[in-house]
Amino acid sequence: MNNYAYKINGGKRLTGEVEISGSKNAVLGILAAAMMVDGPLTLENVPDIADVHVMVDLCRSLGAEINEIDVHTLEIDPRPINTYEANSKLVSKIRASYYLMGALLGRFGKATIRLPGGCNFGDRPIDLHLNAFRLMGAKGARPSDIEGGIIRMTASPLHGAKVYLDIVSVGATINTMLAACKAEGKTEIINAAKEPHIVDVANFLNAMGAKIKGAGTDTIKIQGVPFLKGGFTYSIIPDQIEAGTYMVAAAVTGGDVTITNLIPTHMEPLSAKMREMGYTVEDGDDSIRVYREDGAEIYATNVKTAPYPGFPTDLQPQTVVLLCLAEGMGKMHENVWQNRFQYVPELQKMGTNINLFERVALVNGITRFKPATVLATDLRAGAALVCAALAAEGTSYVTHASRIDRGYEHIVGKLRMLGADIERVDYSGDLEDIEA
Ligand code: UD1
Repeated sequence: MNNYAYKINGGKRLTGEVEISGSKNAVLGILAAAMMVDGPLTLENVPDIADVHVMVDLCRSLGAEINEIDVHTLEIDPRPINTYEANSKLVSKIRASYYLMGALLGRFGKATIRLPGGCNFGDRPIDLHLNAFRLMGAKGARPSDIEGGIIRMTASPLHGAKVYLDIVSVGATINTMLAACKAEGKTEIINAAKEPHIVDVANFLNAMGAKIKGAGTDTIKIQGVPFLKGGFTYSIIPDQIEAGTYMVAAAVTGGDVTITNLIPTHMEPLSAKMREMGYTVEDGDDSIRVYREDGAEIYATNVKTAPYPGFPTDLQPQTVVLLCLAEGMGKMHENVWQNRFQYVPELQKMGTNINLFERVALVNGITRFKPATVLATDLRAGAALVCAALAAEGTSYVTHASRIDRGYEHIVGKLRMLGADIERVDYSGDLEDIEA
């Protein structure tokens, strides 16, 4: 459903405070992990975003009882689940549905699941996930075993294994961790991803009685346990990428914004680059203030995306927008995804001067963005285009805005609180068709 756009009258300085919601990528892993628990539990700081709604519906479709205590708090009882099959169309709506492979394998020793969906930025294989399951004793886990888009795995029993990831993969690390929690014996994940949401999923599982050590380092050791107890409340960490997006929005509008409810160390890859460019980025205990001091020059820089603690690929499009307004030529190397510059032609409609060379974007600084109608090619690209539109004097439309709502809670309300002129409007194809 891509029938609405964000209409933005840009050129307004953003000022004030904005509160960051819970982490999308953490809560999606944790919801899957919750399906393995042998009792009820409560999740707090759950972001109110479309991907979470899909994941909750998916978990309900398996039989889990999920009650919304309030918009950010879910009471979950996974005990009624009596199927290891997740074949509904909901699975192909989001990427993170693949975490049900690990969770169902862990819980039942079996999993039948449709291939996942998610943003399209090149090939998104799951060979590393399947290889880990195969090493843990799952039959049917070879890519050639996938039939009609369905993976059918059975392990008798699921056992621990040494899993070496030849590419650092967030998804494969979490999926292996999930299955390993309830496998017999010990699992070691070597060259594991270290993203904050991996630590959050591990902390959640440990709170349930799992035995995971080393999450946040490149070797994770998991001793399987027969039960995961419930009866507790867990709060999701703040969203690193949402926070980074507001940092960029503040900067490109020449604003002064304090972003609260975040973990400043998670923001260091972006904060360091912004300081290098000339912005002032002040860390508080759980907040960051971003502004440009009077007379400060903003210079271009080079950025290379990499697994955490490297520069997050999910902040790459927003950072290209930041580079557009800097003095000189900036360089963005996309090292994680094969094809993550699909939004650049959209940004070019806004008067930018960007040249693409496979995985490198050369960004020549411009003085201002021009308003335009642009298409959100994916979630983070959409957020980047919103940032550019906020900086462009005049009226812009970012279409296919439902993609943005997959990962940004109440973006219109939050930006309006900062002084932006943004509204959601109907959109059915042409500019003439846009109505408030
Ligand atoms: C997660 C995030 C996504 C983010 C990405 C990298 C979620 C729901 N999504 O995606 O927003 O951009 O981390 O931080 O959390 N790879 C393989 N084989 C595999 C798995 C991955 O070759 O089996 C490759 C991918 O093609 C990619 C790289 O590994 O080049 C990293 O992918 P991965 O970390 O797995 O990304 P996701 O977990 O899908």
